[in-house]
Amino acid sequence: MTTKPMPKPKPTFVADIEEIRKRARQHILDGAVTGGYKGDRQTVIRVLNEALATEIVCVLRYKRHHYTAKGIHSQAVAEEFLEHANEEQGHADRIAERIVQLDGDPDLNPEGLASRSHSQYVEGATLVEMIREDLIAERIAIESYSEIIRYLGDNDSTSRRLMEDILANEEEHAEEMKTLLESIGEDEKRDEKTRERKAAS
Ligand SMILES: [Fe+2]
Ligand SMILES: [Fe+2]
Repeated sequence: MTTKPMPKPKPTFVADIEEIRKRARQHILDGAVTGGYKGDRQTVIRVLNEALATEIVCVLRYKRHHYTAKGIHSQAVAEEFLEHANEEQGHADRIAERIVQLDGDPDLNPEGLASRSHSQYVEGATLVEMIREDLIAERIAIESYSEIIRYLGDNDSTSRRLMEDILANEEEHAEEMKTLLESIGEDEKRDEKTRERKAAS
């Protein structure tokens, strides 16, 4: 005699809706953070505050570069610096909002800002130096945000998605700085050759 195998129960997404509702009610003052939050909240807030400091330092560096860009190529590059400064400000705002959702305090204290930040504030004397410093800072942000994303994993998918979004934007910034560096480098080499030719004739 053969017995029919029992149909497998379909996996249910919400195991106990009552329990979820109860937990949400109990911790209503926690705002967006529910009992199901799997992250280590204090660490997530600390890490996001470091990303916030990184963004603010990037805003300040790009602003400085925007106002001090000099030379024949400066106008278009200065515009690009300003665009990046504004986008970094947008990142800072989104990170600060997320910290508040997690019941944390966004750390906007200017004291210690540079040491909380992963990227550095380097002024740069020439346009090429500025672009190079911006490229380095973007690459640092890309490295550290990738690390943050790996750390967040499935424990806080909202923060992870936010950081993934920002990371994609930093990658665009890095690409733009790299292209600028290459094209200005080429132009400068050509100008140098022209000057040498004129001096020799
Ligand atoms: Fe940014
Ligand atoms: Fe950036």
